[in-house]
Amino acid sequence: MHNNLLGIHKYEAEDEDLMAEVLEGLNQSQKKLPSKLFYDQKGSELFDQICDLKEYYLTQTEMWIMNRYIDEISSMLGEKCLLIELGSGSSTKVRMLLDHLDDPVGYVPVDISLEHLLSSANSIARDYPNIKVLPVYADYTQPFVLPDISIHFSKKVIYYPGSTIGNFTPTNASRFINRIAENSGNGSGFLIGVDLKKDTKTLEAAYNDKEGVTAAFNLNMLKRLNGELKTDFDLSQWRHHAFYNMGEGRIEMHLVSLKEQQVSLNGTGIEFKKDETILTEYSYKYSANEFEELLEDGFKVEKVWTDEENKFSVQYMTAR
Ligand code: AVJ
Repeated sequence: MHNNLLGIHKYEAEDEDLMAEVLEGLNQSQKKLPSKLFYDQKGSELFDQICDLKEYYLTQTEMWIMNRYIDEISSMLGEKCLLIELGSGSSTKVRMLLDHLDDPVGYVPVDISLEHLLSSANSIARDYPNIKVLPVYADYTQPFVLPDISIHFSKKVIYYPGSTIGNFTPTNASRFINRIAENSGNGSGFLIGVDLKKDTKTLEAAYNDKEGVTAAFNLNMLKRLNGELKTDFDLSQWRHHAFYNMGEGRIEMHLVSLKEQQVSLNGTGIEFKKDETILTEYSYKYSANEFEELLEDGFKVEKVWTDEENKFSVQYMTAR
C-alpha cells in the first residue's frame, strides 16, 4: 500500500440488475447485450491485447497524437489539475499525461472491472508518489458521486480516451456529455479521444483482426454470462461478426447463432434462429463537425488535434 493511494469508493451494481438488463436485451426483436459486459477480468485483458494489435489503429494513433502535441495539451490543462478518467482499465494512457502535465495533484480512475482498477490504481500510486490516487469502482454511465476530494486543485479535467464515447448512440452521447458538463462545473476541462470516419476497409480490419483477439473478446461476453448468470451458451455455436454500417456511421459487433438453438436464462428458454444475431456493440465514428454538433451548450471545443492521415482526434473542451 502506498500512502497516496486513498480508499476505494464502490458503487456496486447488484446481480439482479445484471439479470434484468440481460433479460431485457434478449427479449427485444434485435437481441442485444450491453457493451459494458465485455469488461470482466478476462475481457479487460483481451481488450488490452486488442490495443496492441496492428489493425487496431485507434490506440497507436491516439498515443501518437498525444505525444506529438503534449506541450499544447499540458498548457491547456494548466497546473495542479485533478484528472478523472472514465473507464480507466489498466491506466496505460494516463501515464503519458501524468509524466508531462504541470504538477498534477490527483488522479481518479473510474472503472467497472474491480481487479483491473485496483491493480492499476496501485501501480499509479507507486510510480507517482506526489499524486493522490482515488479509485472509484462504478459504472460511469450511471450517475455516481465523486469521492470527497480533500486536495487542492486548480482545474478538474475529465479524461475519456480511446473513443469509448462511440459506444453510445449520438443521442445518448450528447446526453452523457451534457450531464458531465452540468456536474463538473464551469471551466472544467474534458480531454476526449474521438475516432474519425474513414474508409470501410480500415475500419473493418480494426474489428476483425487476423489473430482473432476481437472475436475472442466478443465471445467472452457469453462465457461471462455462463459463469455469472448460469446461462448455458454453447460457445462453439456462435460466431463473431463485425461490419461498418456506413449509413449510420458505426461499426456494429454481433454474435451470430450458427444454428437454431435455445439458451436457458433464469428458468426461461430463449430461442435463437439460425443466423440470428445478438448485438453487442456500436462504435460510432464522427467527423470533427458531427462531434461538435453533439455538444450543444454544455462544452465548447477549444482544440482538436489529429494525426497526419486524419484517422483519430484528441479534443479538448471546456464546460460553460
Ligand atoms: C473501447 C469502445 C473504444 O469501440 O473500438 C475494440 C471497444 N470493441 N474492439 C471500440 C472495442 C472491439 C472499443 N472501445
